[in-house]
Amino acid sequence: MTRGLVLAIETSCDETAAAVVAEGKHVLSSVVSSQVDIHARYGGVVPEVASRAHVDLITPVIAQTLIEAGIEHHDLDLVAATRGPGLIGSLLVGVSAAKSLALVWDKPFIGVNHLEGHLYSSFLEEPDLELPMIILLVSGGHTMLVSMDEHLTYRVLGQTLDDAAGEAYDKVARYLGLGYPGGPIIDKLATSGQAKISFPRPMIGEGYDFSFSGLKTAVINYVRKNPDELDENIAASFQEAVVDVLVTKTIRAAKDQNAVGVCIGGGVAANSRLREAILDACPKEGLKPFIPSRSYCTDNAAMIGAAAWRRFQHDGPSNLATGADPNLRIPE
Ligand code: KG4
Ligand code: ZN
Repeated sequence: MTRGLVLAIETSCDETAAAVVAEGKHVLSSVVSSQVDIHARYGGVVPEVASRAHVDLITPVIAQTLIEAGIEHHDLDLVAATRGPGLIGSLLVGVSAAKSLALVWDKPFIGVNHLEGHLYSSFLEEPDLELPMIILLVSGGHTMLVSMDEHLTYRVLGQTLDDAAGEAYDKVARYLGLGYPGGPIIDKLATSGQAKISFPRPMIGEGYDFSFSGLKTAVINYVRKNPDELDENIAASFQEAVVDVLVTKTIRAAKDQNAVGVCIGGGVAANSRLREAILDACPKEGLKPFIPSRSYCTDNAAMIGAAAWRRFQHDGPSNLATGADPNLRIPE
């Protein structure tokens, strides 16, 4: 009999996702229903539209993940949902669904930190990753360097002072009229461009914090002054500046903290150039890189299942009075 079966639900932003994960590492099923097409016409996520779409999608997505996993609800040991950070209306849909199912099925419930989920996504494919390691967490809402010293024990070394890396991708793409979300579009466009424009590398030599707002403005000013420059070259040059800053700081943090290796997580970790640059830089510094599959970098519920099982082993279940918290931070 399989033990440690977690039904995990993720609705913090614009993906409605559910997964069944055994013992925090074996993914039996992972279903992600993206709302990207709904939000694309507005150029970004509209919170009220996102919560309504989650309400429509949550039941079919949970039903599908149970069917794909080949299990019945009575086989489950735990029901988990992301409780923050994220959009409050979106979070409430997943948390309410998970608590209701836990109550009706008489299973324990656990509320999970979305960022801890991203930190645990690498363990789905590599459960025995050695610690301490440095994790670069880069998404649409966050850019941070975290040292995982032991399981469930973190130190946030640095974070963005303004725009998140994904946000900078999205804003540059929007300015160039390329569409939403900007990350994958710029990633693809950059492959046929030349990184010949020298954009600034903000704070590259200073500490572990990041700042991307000035770089975004530099790109916009350049485009205004050089309207004939190819989008491909702008995309490649902007991306090179972002990746240079991310990789330089990550490697420096890993060396300073005597980490064994480096992992990446969050939507921007799906970026081809960032993945390539981390794989290239780590061995030169005696660091072990781990790059998760793209589907575990962008928002998904399997990573929530991985974090849920770890937390449950350590802290036990959450109280059913536990609510959603849009401003939840990484527990340090
Ligand atoms: O982690 P995620 O799916 O959702 C948040 O929690 O924010 O990240 C979404 C972000 C968006 O800003 C999107 O443009 C960016 O990740 N992104 C990428 C790529 N794929 C997604 N950025 C750069 N290159 C990509 N291939
Ligand atoms: Zn995320």
